[in-house]
Amino acid sequence: MLKNKTVIVTGAGSGIGKTIASHIAKQKAQVVIADLNETAARAHADEINDQNGSAMAISCDVANEQSVNNMVRKAVENFGPIDILVNNAGLQFISKIEEFPLEKWNQLISVMLTGTFLCTKACVPYMKQSNWGRIINISSAHGKTPSPWKCAYVAAKHGIIGFTKVMACELAQWNITANSICPGYVLTPLVEKQITDLAKQHNISEEQVPEQVLLKNQPLKKLVSTTELAELALYLAGPSAQCITGQALSIDGGWTYS
Ligand SMILES: NC(=O)c1ccc[n+]([C@@H]2O[C@H](COP(=O)([O-])OP(=O)(O)OC[C@H]3O[C@@H](n4cnc5c(N)ncnc54)[C@H](O)[C@@H]3O)[C@@H](O)[C@H]2O)c1
Repeated sequence: MLKNKTVIVTGAGSGIGKTIASHIAKQKAQVVIADLNETAARAHADEINDQNGSAMAISCDVANEQSVNNMVRKAVENFGPIDILVNNAGLQFISKIEEFPLEKWNQLISVMLTGTFLCTKACVPYMKQSNWGRIINISSAHGKTPSPWKCAYVAAKHGIIGFTKVMACELAQWNITANSICPGYVLTPLVEKQITDLAKQHNISEEQVPEQVLLKNQPLKKLVSTTELAELALYLAGPSAQCITGQALSIDGGWTYS
């Protein structure tokens, strides 16, 4: 289905991006593992190549235009024009608004929102030339609904959904679709790092955080797995999703159903 397609997955050295990259590589696509953490990116590319896949690691800061353009240039030189882009790199920071440092606000917006813009801007010319492309942006349930103490994250994730809708209408004439995936909580390093802070903020023990905070508003009471997300990303990249564009697809156990 994705044989010989060139795919960039940002933040693919860890968590959700890592599993998406592995699933895409199993479809015989050529996958670029683009991550700020070069060691993690290399390790994952080696793992995919050891299993007869085709992957290369490229160190990249998605918040930096020159770094993004270098990454895309290297990807094209090595694998050919970009067909599919998965904007996944992200991070979290939790604080009350009065104490939220400006540099943390700027960092979260730069990585998740500006990073999505910069990577899309760099890849779209190749997709237009091929008259085909798939842009898959990892937003969040927090792209649709808020939680306290996460102002920068929630703002960036809402922004990604708006940006994706613009790409969907702007790029449709070239057969390029753009969709957001909005996961509920997934147990990755991004969430594991929040457990201590959330326990403190809510004045509860770390053991109580999953039930009392993460899954509190989620009817199914289940964490989402990285495999479920990778399978949704694969579906959006495949032929059955050719008429799906501009959507923000929730995979969150019913958290945002209202
Ligand atoms: N884990 C969850 O519960 C959850 C829920 C909804 C959405 N998401 C989103 O999914 C995406 C992946 O998150 P995850 O949970 O796998 O986190 P993770 O921490 O496991 O992985 C994030 C990756 O992004 C990379 N990264 C960070 N800043 C970068 C930058 N400037 N340039 C390039 N790479 C950078 C990190 O090095 C890391 O490898 C994020 O956008 C996150 O907001 C996660």
